[in-house]
Amino acid sequence: MTNQTDLADQLSEAAGAAFAALGLESSLGAMRRSDRPDLADFQCNGAMAAAKKLGRNPREIATAIVDALKASPLVASTDVAGPGFINVKVSAAALSARAAKIAADPRSGARSMETPRRVVIDFGGWNVAKEMHIGHLRSTVIGDSLQRLFRFMGDTVTSDVHLGDWGLQMGQLINEVKLEQPDLPYFDAVFTGPYPETSPVTMDDLGRLYPQASAKSKTDETRRDEDRKATQELQAGRPGYRALWHHFCNVTRVGLERECASLGVNFDLWKGESDAEPYVPELVEDLKARGIAELDAGAWIIRVARETDKKEMPPIILVNRDGAIGYHGSDLGTIVDRKRTIAPELSMYVVDQRQALHFEQVFRASDRAGLLPEKALEHLGFGTVNGPDGKPFKTREGGILKLYELISQADATALARMREAELGADVSDDERRDIAHKVAVAAIKFSDLSNVRTTNYIFDLDRFISFEGKTGPYLLYAAVRIKSLARRAEGEGVKPGPIAIELDAERGLVLQLDALNDALRGSYDKRMPHILCDHAYSLAQAFSSFYTAAPILVESDPAKKASRLALAMATLTQLELALHLIGIDTPERM
Ligand code: ARG
Repeated sequence: MTNQTDLADQLSEAAGAAFAALGLESSLGAMRRSDRPDLADFQCNGAMAAAKKLGRNPREIATAIVDALKASPLVASTDVAGPGFINVKVSAAALSARAAKIAADPRSGARSMETPRRVVIDFGGWNVAKEMHIGHLRSTVIGDSLQRLFRFMGDTVTSDVHLGDWGLQMGQLINEVKLEQPDLPYFDAVFTGPYPETSPVTMDDLGRLYPQASAKSKTDETRRDEDRKATQELQAGRPGYRALWHHFCNVTRVGLERECASLGVNFDLWKGESDAEPYVPELVEDLKARGIAELDAGAWIIRVARETDKKEMPPIILVNRDGAIGYHGSDLGTIVDRKRTIAPELSMYVVDQRQALHFEQVFRASDRAGLLPEKALEHLGFGTVNGPDGKPFKTREGGILKLYELISQADATALARMREAELGADVSDDERRDIAHKVAVAAIKFSDLSNVRTTNYIFDLDRFISFEGKTGPYLLYAAVRIKSLARRAEGEGVKPGPIAIELDAERGLVLQLDALNDALRGSYDKRMPHILCDHAYSLAQAFSSFYTAAPILVESDPAKKASRLALAMATLTQLELALHLIGIDTPERM
């Protein structure tokens, strides 16, 4: 895969040569997109830095650079602004050439990373026996977008759903099932199997039993002790408990896989907290021997506080006093597992911001234990999804909105909106439903991802599912419009041809197409999908201005027609690519 140079690279090279000719460092020539697109396409601030170093007048240096740049075929015009900014307007020839490169490239002009890394992304994080709900939606949507982006940039990504399947909630649930169905063989300590193959509980049962059990565990101390004991016995391998637990996991997983398929999210690994268990005893022995794990009131802990800490930093509990492994222990054991099987250079955890302390503790412990270094472990927190009242989103009845209910509500709303907008009127019912589902998923994902990851947002399906404004459906519609244009062009025998940039709206579109690398790199470096969402939206807007100013099929000049069609096709490729990287699939028509 060869990496293309974008306009900023080309201009930086030209300006760099001009700086070098003055005996200055060529890196001073770095050009970036202008802060004032009304005045210039690109700007370079190197003259100011050079002047400071040399004690010379920045405008003088800038003028010398501008004089040299005027001769470059890349440059239409250039001047010095303010204290010594170098402004550049790109030539039509450079824009046309860049557009041709983008149009011919299946990656739409996108660069990839020179040194790919092994990356683990831990997201989803749903819990066994709990219905997948809106709270885990963010992790799923953000994590999926990041796995797509990191893979696209060339990294070797392993995604892991890391199911919550091993903590106290498992013991709570075992005891709750025992209360309801005490005669099941799973509770008979002498029975050794075989156990029934069908689950004694459905997902609905689990959804009912879990809150019941956790409420009792909270208020009743005797019950809590029993739950802890059951958890410990499960973890120690009591056959009946293991068999019952397998049913809990399988029943939950069927539901999760259905939701994932519906959202178009894939995981490489369907591991869980329980998979860390085999690594923990060995880890504890090793850390004991090295004096890193300490016995504290019967529990094995690792101290992670530092003198420089400004807030309280409690130790992590590797194994609790009942001998059970909790959230800390399973996360540390998972790091051992990943280190051995994947050896990641970077691990990212896409988990609610409210778990920041947990991850700080675990990462420090990993570092102390000599597992993965702290700097290779990142917690990517996110804000909460709130209701109109600004509090975490609840249904009208005050409950938690289950994910499949959310998706079916979104599907229904999308269908209604399409009807209002007279979209999808001439397709079969099946296809219309399929399109509506794509619109619904686009709405849900885009409204989540277009927010800065760390902020909270207000959930409002009606606003998300609108074909106007900065929404997923608007972007889908923009892409579908170009697809329909392409079909009409084909019908009329019009083919894309050499690109020649003439109009301002064409310039604007190519500059936007060329901005893809900045958007990718920004999203990738900051792990912030909203930057890519912004790019997709700006691209759709630039296309819309272009299409208004430069109609295609009614154009009488065949060369112009072919050039504009080529630009439209290049836009479609890039728009679909950007949407794909945020997890959105485009239908063929609407
Ligand atoms: N199951 C956890 C929860 O619901 C999230 C898991 C996140 N991943 C991790 N490695 N701790 O809070």
